[in-house]
Amino acid sequence: MIKISPSILAADFAELGKSCENVMKAGADMLHIDVMDGAFVPNISLGVPVLQSLAKRVEAFYDVHLMIREPLKYIKPFCDAGADRITFHIEADSPVRETIEAIRAQGCKAALSIKPATPVQAVVPYLDMLDMVLVMSVEPGFGGQKFMPGAVEKIAQLHAEISRRGLKCEIEVDGGIDAATAPLCAKAGATVLVAGSAVFGAPDAAQAIAQLRRVCE
Ligand code: DX5
Ligand code: ZN
Repeated sequence: MIKISPSILAADFAELGKSCENVMKAGADMLHIDVMDGAFVPNISLGVPVLQSLAKRVEAFYDVHLMIREPLKYIKPFCDAGADRITFHIEADSPVRETIEAIRAQGCKAALSIKPATPVQAVVPYLDMLDMVLVMSVEPGFGGQKFMPGAVEKIAQLHAEISRRGLKCEIEVDGGIDAATAPLCAKAGATVLVAGSAVFGAPDAAQAIAQLRRVCE
């Protein structure tokens, strides 16, 4: 079954704990924590202290997406704060193998993300070390953007490579996911859908999550 990872970027930060409890009760599989540093992407969101407080209060699998420069420097603090899986960008400026190893050494799952302009080939050499690849379907930096259809072919290529080699690596897609775009990604082989606006922006989160699942069946 497809997994839904609501992005807290679309939540009301003044009500963060309550909103996160809400989406978990509404059937979310995990929480997607978008960390932006104003340098790797042109926006600033939240960091270690917010994750730490949230993880203490809300029982969930924490799917942390680092859109920051020098991710290697911040692996330990994010793991200590409660991250269950850390995704960093191949376009960031840390050594890829070393960063994956640092995440695993903390007992955390490791994932690598590619921006819309980065080809799938870039992550292929690391697939056997990874728990997941995150295919961005918008330029990282902001929620509420339009889905870029080029992501579908990238998911399909990745899925083919992972199946061919019999690996266990999951595929996550992030950006502009809603009831119309989710099934395209699921059909191509994505198993984890990030959804910000479509879940936190919906009047009824349980209904929104159920609908995302239903359209992917
Ligand atoms: C974009 C973030 C996404 C984003 C998704 O940089 O990584 O997680 O918040 O938001 P929606 O679902 O609204 O496109
Ligand atoms: Zn994200």
